[in-house]
Amino acid sequence: MKRILSGIQPSGALHLGNYFGMMRPAVALQAEGDAFYFIADLHALTTVHDPAALRGHVRDTALDFLACGLDPARSCFFRQSDVPEVTELAWILSTAMPMSRLELAHSFKDKTARGLEASHGLLSYPVLMAADILLYDSDLVPVGRDQKQHLEITRDLAQRFNDRYGAPVLRLPEALIAESTAVVPGLDGQKMSKSYGNALELFAEEKALRKKVMGIVTDSTPVESPKPTEGSILLALHRLVASPEDAARMEDEHRAGGVGYGDFKKRLFAATWEYFAPMRAKRAEWAADPAAVDEVLRAGAAKARGVATEVLARVRQACGLR
Ligand code: TYM
Repeated sequence: MKRILSGIQPSGALHLGNYFGMMRPAVALQAEGDAFYFIADLHALTTVHDPAALRGHVRDTALDFLACGLDPARSCFFRQSDVPEVTELAWILSTAMPMSRLELAHSFKDKTARGLEASHGLLSYPVLMAADILLYDSDLVPVGRDQKQHLEITRDLAQRFNDRYGAPVLRLPEALIAESTAVVPGLDGQKMSKSYGNALELFAEEKALRKKVMGIVTDSTPVESPKPTEGSILLALHRLVASPEDAARMEDEHRAGGVGYGDFKKRLFAATWEYFAPMRAKRAEWAADPAAVDEVLRAGAAKARGVATEVLARVRQACGLR
């Protein structure tokens, strides 16, 4: 059975990019393999420096994942920091990681260009991520396209480690990127991101969500005229949450003219609100039982640690720490 693994940073509210890029595929894959999903709280320390905020984000992310269909009876769900073995593996891997590759990594360049402090943690982020993946002998890693380079670094590191010690100690994983939802656009047309202020949050209050959708900037085509379909954010988002018939109708109406952007936005909001209604209900159920959530994470960590200890023992043996 294939081991499937993915993680999400508890660094802000869950958005449509996270859902369609990773969570929905991850939830679907539960039926096909041995799934390990986790909350990457150690990674979040690179940007979240308020302890109360971090605790809150971890709790919210646990609820979000459960609300979106993570089934604790099928999948192992845990908090990254509950398996401290990951930091030891990260250290060992870091001795095989070329410095230049980290300095040139997209996400490091992107984050520092936006003003984040170039800390050692931010630089070595991909090494910890490689440890997350390799520590559980993962085969498949469902992610959005923005994580593709991190997966390439992970494979490269595993190969370097195996070459260095002359044995297939670490399993090489593969990224699983769902083409149609690999990059969900944000309200401004850039990639939707927690840190760009362009996200539609799954579990936002109704009023706030409506306001965001109605605020999407459109061109000044008059109501009666045909509207561009190519590169339309409204259409791209609507396609994700509407039925195929409704999506096709909205596209036809763009081509034909006669319907204004305000109307399209109202329909995008309504479809979004309706799409996530079952998840909102499920989230409320889990939120009412925090002890059950804690228990899921506790059991998940115990299981994850069992696997992690075995793989780390193999690694230690290979590199002479035993
Ligand atoms: P994070 O927390 O930024 O995002 C979680 C997942 O959501 C995907 N995603 C998107 N997909 C499509 N369109 C978008 N606009 C969009 N925005 C986000 C991301 O690709 C990701 O799959 N480094 C990871 C967390 C991590 C991890 C791991 C993932 C830590 N260790 C090991 C997999 C395996 C991250 O920051 O994801």
